[in-house]
Amino acid sequence: MCGIVGYIGNKQAYPILIKGLHRLEYRGYDSSGVALINDKNEINVYKTKGKVEDLEKYASDKDLSGTIGIAHTRWATHGEPNDSNAHPHYSQSKSLAIIHNGIIENYAIIKKDLIKRGYEFKSDTDTEVLVQLIEHIKEKNNVDLTKAVQLALTQAVGAYAIAVIEKGNPNQIVAARKASPLVIGVGDDEFFLASDATPFVEYTKKVIYLNDEEIATITRNDEVHIRTISDVEKTPELKEIEMSLNELEKGGFPHFMLKEIHEQPKRIAEAMRGRININHDNVALSGIIDNKDKFLNAKRIIIVACGTSWHAGLIGEYLLEEFTRIPVEVEYASEFRYRNPIINKDDIVIAISQSGETADTLAAVELARKKGAFVYGICNVIGSSIPRNTDSGTYTHVGPEIGVASTKAFTAQVTVLALISLTIANMKGSLDKKRYKELIDELATIPAKMEETLKTNENIQKIAPIFTYAKNFIYLGRGYNYPVALEGALKLKEISYIHAEGYPAAEMKHGPIALIDAEMPVVFIAPHKGMYEKTLSNIEEVKARKGRIFSIVTKGDNVVSKVSDYSIEIPETEECFVPLLATIPLQLLAYHIAIMKGCNVDQPRNLAKSVTVE
Ligand code: G6P
Repeated sequence: MCGIVGYIGNKQAYPILIKGLHRLEYRGYDSSGVALINDKNEINVYKTKGKVEDLEKYASDKDLSGTIGIAHTRWATHGEPNDSNAHPHYSQSKSLAIIHNGIIENYAIIKKDLIKRGYEFKSDTDTEVLVQLIEHIKEKNNVDLTKAVQLALTQAVGAYAIAVIEKGNPNQIVAARKASPLVIGVGDDEFFLASDATPFVEYTKKVIYLNDEEIATITRNDEVHIRTISDVEKTPELKEIEMSLNELEKGGFPHFMLKEIHEQPKRIAEAMRGRININHDNVALSGIIDNKDKFLNAKRIIIVACGTSWHAGLIGEYLLEEFTRIPVEVEYASEFRYRNPIINKDDIVIAISQSGETADTLAAVELARKKGAFVYGICNVIGSSIPRNTDSGTYTHVGPEIGVASTKAFTAQVTVLALISLTIANMKGSLDKKRYKELIDELATIPAKMEETLKTNENIQKIAPIFTYAKNFIYLGRGYNYPVALEGALKLKEISYIHAEGYPAAEMKHGPIALIDAEMPVVFIAPHKGMYEKTLSNIEEVKARKGRIFSIVTKGDNVVSKVSDYSIEIPETEECFVPLLATIPLQLLAYHIAIMKGCNVDQPRNLAKSVTVE
């Protein structure tokens, strides 16, 4: 959460920082700010509550000169979103300015001590405490900025990605990280730093990923120098990233979310490319094959994830158990990490995360590794923390996902889980060859079927206004479609602020049925495959209580659609792949309802895409 960006080079920093903040707004958007060192070597800080565009308005008549600067877009943790809590924060004498993503957990103790020493605080944030501490240490020990940051961080408990600049020192940014992402972009005579590479992708593809407890001293016209907090010198490792600028633009769509929904056929095809062979008789994921013995001997698979990725994990449970016959458990990473779970050496832990940075999932990975499990990652963002902290893994390769509500990342995670299940099943011989090939043949048709499914967009757009009155929604599905119901409900909640609950359809009778009346929209995922008749009975039960039924049915269905008030057809496919299609109309339904309600679908209130605090 929170996006940070920094620049030092020959160009004016402000326009680069502002553009960078816009690209990082998905990480938080309740307030933002910038600090620049001007030609007189003074630090100017401009910050305000609201989005980056509010900052631009606020700063428009200010001195924006300077070729070095740092900037921040905030998702509040300590202190309400207001002007004074916005970053950057000055130190007492205004000789330093800091930006920070994370939480300094022991800030209260440090603050108390600094207050005793005469420091005054202008905000309620933990971040201001850190910058005051750095200033205090710098003055007391008469050390340079890097050393002061290093000494201060030995006292700080918590998570951070920080960048600090100093008055009178226009040639240096000092940055550090622990459990919050930070990447340095290395250009020609210029450096960038940011929470991810999106702010500087048009300037350089060369990056250095900072590791936990590392401090980088970034000096104009010099190399990046890295030391650890415990003062060990490190050699920076330069890496190339693959990302193009048009992946970061809306490409003619009004919102990133709609663009990302429509990208799914292409992206899912990319997620399968090179992994399914031309004859469709082999699926090969190197991460699995290179660790064949681990997977063949696995007694149990535990999937850990949060949010939408957890829903993908639930579908993974169905896929893995059906095809590999290995028992699977799916856990919220936040629960798993704190409940002293039983993990054995022959367990495999699969961590699913779009961003690869979710604090709870990362902590679950660390715990599982400590307990000796083999840990496998399914992530989208290349070079992010989870892939760098797992034993092996598979990237989903869907390009940057910018809409805060996850769409293409989810279907790609499910696709990768299907590929993993098929790869293991083939290695184990738990699936007969004919069935194995049938499944691969069908999986390969999914991108074209997704394309067909997207044609429902117009119809859904027409139906959506009818539901804007609703205060509640229920989503119901069975088997593979139970997690789809959860995901459909989450999408609606996230972006339209309508309360929605997903349930296994049969569970409806154990409570939710009491809520059903003529006002209650009930969304059924009711394809021909699986427990069609049983789901039909559940639909009848809702109908009898006058609920308003919106159903997702298989093309040509004339039974469920007759009972439903509204129905959307998806192409026929194998039961295990229905989630890849059925999710799309639910993404579109949430999108159109939110648009009709005038909500900001790409940046819903209170949410952030990358949850780097627990
Ligand atoms: C946040 C996002 C969700 C996402 C979840 C897990 O809540 O808003 O869209 O599913 O984090 O994120 P991850 O990056 O680990 O998949």
